[in-house]
Amino acid sequence: MILTASETRSEFRLGIIFWRHTYHMQSLTQTSVNNKRRLVIILFSALCLFAPVVLPAHRGAAESGRKILVAHRGASAYAPEHTLEAYRLAIAQGADYVEQDLQITRDGVLVCLHDLTLERTTNVEEVFPDRARDVMMNGTTGRRWMVADFTLEEIKRLDAGAWFGEEYKGAKVPTWQEAIDVVRGRAGLYPETKAPEVYGGAGVEMEKLVLAELRKNRLDQPGADPKTPVIIQSFSAASLQKMARELKMKLPLVLLISDQGKERERWLTAEGLKEVKKFAVGIGPAKQLLDADPTLVKRAHDAGLTVTPYTFRASAIGRFKSVRDEMSYYLHTLGVDALFTDNPDQFPRGK
Ligand code: G3P
Ligand code: CA
Repeated sequence: MILTASETRSEFRLGIIFWRHTYHMQSLTQTSVNNKRRLVIILFSALCLFAPVVLPAHRGAAESGRKILVAHRGASAYAPEHTLEAYRLAIAQGADYVEQDLQITRDGVLVCLHDLTLERTTNVEEVFPDRARDVMMNGTTGRRWMVADFTLEEIKRLDAGAWFGEEYKGAKVPTWQEAIDVVRGRAGLYPETKAPEVYGGAGVEMEKLVLAELRKNRLDQPGADPKTPVIIQSFSAASLQKMARELKMKLPLVLLISDQGKERERWLTAEGLKEVKKFAVGIGPAKQLLDADPTLVKRAHDAGLTVTPYTFRASAIGRFKSVRDEMSYYLHTLGVDALFTDNPDQFPRGK
């Protein structure tokens, strides 16, 4: 971890103060100086000057200068998204945070799944052929197996790995608690309240469930577990505002902004960014928004917001030679603080 100049100076000052204090105490109590102890003190001061200081990642890249790697749905380029296998691999590949998209089962349990439906990433059609219903989504009506129609016990009967590769056959949809248990102490958590308005419309308050789960795990306060910082993200400003204002959530919140739809016009003006700052610490824009307007990084920073674009994946690198090059451009040329990637092992540490 790299220290900023001012952090280096203050750590050095602390070392000197410690040295002076200790030396003063010694002179009061001892007539001769113990050379061994002096050496230890001098070494301590030198260490304060040169050794890296571990800052909790949730303080943000803007403060520490360190770029933050968020594993998108785990190491989802290499293992089935939102499985414990994908989370473990992300940690092994050096993720600072592991992302979980959250959905809610019929019996009110938070589970890690990107879609509101089960058919893309599980064998639900085989196991429960008669449990689909006609639902209009993304402009088309089709047979859907909604997460909200299934109990946790039923969802646990599904295979969430075989669609990705035979070697992952038998992987399960994890509860958020299971994800926390795997990630805790090894990386940060980056949960997303997914479609909170849909669940809210059915009388289920996702924000309250999220907060209750964090409380149960004693992770609901910033710095509660320095090895497991938590940042909460959502495309729904209302969801974040509810957490910040009604539920008095103190954890950092990040507003995701899609390159589709009207939200981007609302939030990306100077006024909009100022508004975001009232309930969030940062924005998570689609990377296309930064490509279209690279000044957004500076404008967001000037508004006091961090910038964490999504999603960087080797399968969609556009004009870049590699996903590593693409991430490098966004991190070091555009100056974003963090990013979401399916390929944690390609994250360019350093310049
Ligand atoms: O949460 C960041 C990024 O994951 C947003 O897109 O659709 O993958 O949740 P999505
Ligand atoms: Ca997400």
